[in-house]
Amino acid sequence: MSERIFIGVAWPYANGPLHLGQIAGAYLPPDVFARYHRTKGNEVLMVSGSDQHGTPITIKAEQEGKTPSEIAARYHRQFLDSWQKFGISFDLFTTTGTANHAEVSQDIFLTLLDRGYTYKATVSQPFCPHCQRFLPDRYIEGTCPYCHSPGARGDQCEACGKPLSPAELIDPHCRICGTTPVFMDSEHFFLKLSAFSDQLMSWVKQQTHWRPNVLNLTLRYLKEGLKDRAITRDIGWGIPVPLDGYENKRLYVWFEAVIGYLSATKEWAKSSGDEEKWRSFWQGAVKSYYFIGKDNIPFHTLIWPAMLMGYDSLNLPYDIPANEFLTIEGRKLSTSHNWAVWLPDYLSRYDPDPLRYLLSIN
Ligand code: MF3
Ligand code: ZN
Repeated sequence: MSERIFIGVAWPYANGPLHLGQIAGAYLPPDVFARYHRTKGNEVLMVSGSDQHGTPITIKAEQEGKTPSEIAARYHRQFLDSWQKFGISFDLFTTTGTANHAEVSQDIFLTLLDRGYTYKATVSQPFCPHCQRFLPDRYIEGTCPYCHSPGARGDQCEACGKPLSPAELIDPHCRICGTTPVFMDSEHFFLKLSAFSDQLMSWVKQQTHWRPNVLNLTLRYLKEGLKDRAITRDIGWGIPVPLDGYENKRLYVWFEAVIGYLSATKEWAKSSGDEEKWRSFWQGAVKSYYFIGKDNIPFHTLIWPAMLMGYDSLNLPYDIPANEFLTIEGRKLSTSHNWAVWLPDYLSRYDPDPLRYLLSIN
């Protein structure tokens, strides 16, 4: 009997060319998997798209003196070209910049609000008095309070790996102009993740077929206790918060990017001529697989499932085969650190199959 298989693939930030770490970790495995299931006669839908919001895009835009939408458009075009040349057989590769995606994201936001799964709270946020703007974590630099390296970012010290919050940095300064930020109150929406702890725990415990790294990491987060998370930000680039009085805020990129799996399915259904067809991959007997790199695990095993539980009776993930990172000289490949072998470079010189083979057997 033929099975239905939904394949969600991590949405790459449109802030640089794709590199081999992303290909090995998130893109080649689902393509092999999709081709296998199609050959077997199963019904497959494989979707993803460019993640075009968030500070990775705005930082790149500022570095180049371009607008975020110019950056996003450039790399989206390049991604499409790479998939075609490398043979990654998406049924749809869209972007988070579509009107459809904004609509679906805002609907989920409002539904969760309506059901009491989000709430407003005031938080103290770093603000640059010179730039006259709130500074996202990655826009603040200072000295790490743990290892004392300079150049630690407001979200993490890259030298010692410790996650940080901006208030912990020694000598914090604005990454754009160098001014010392002040802390000011700002109102944000929070997702009540804590409300889903028990439901998530009993669901996760049944997922004995997950890879041990995925299951163990997820159980560890659950045992430590889930914290509610802010799902809005004080920035101008992103999906508007659909409420009066929030014109200067946007939905947090991680809140809306995971919604892309659903919105892309709806876009695919609309363009097939049958708007309701998205249901055939989100309700009933479907196995949903999410192919991601290991840094994305909690977003797919906890946050996205919690959002789905609060929203509607849509299928939760069946499996989340997260992969380890590829390294060069012991360092993980990274777009923001410009440390990578780039897929377009490879494809301009060689055929796809030797690389597909090499990455697969490894
Ligand atoms: N853009 C994110 C990254 O590159 C991944 C987003 S995956 C999604 O790490 F689920 F949010 F879409
Ligand atoms: Zn500044």
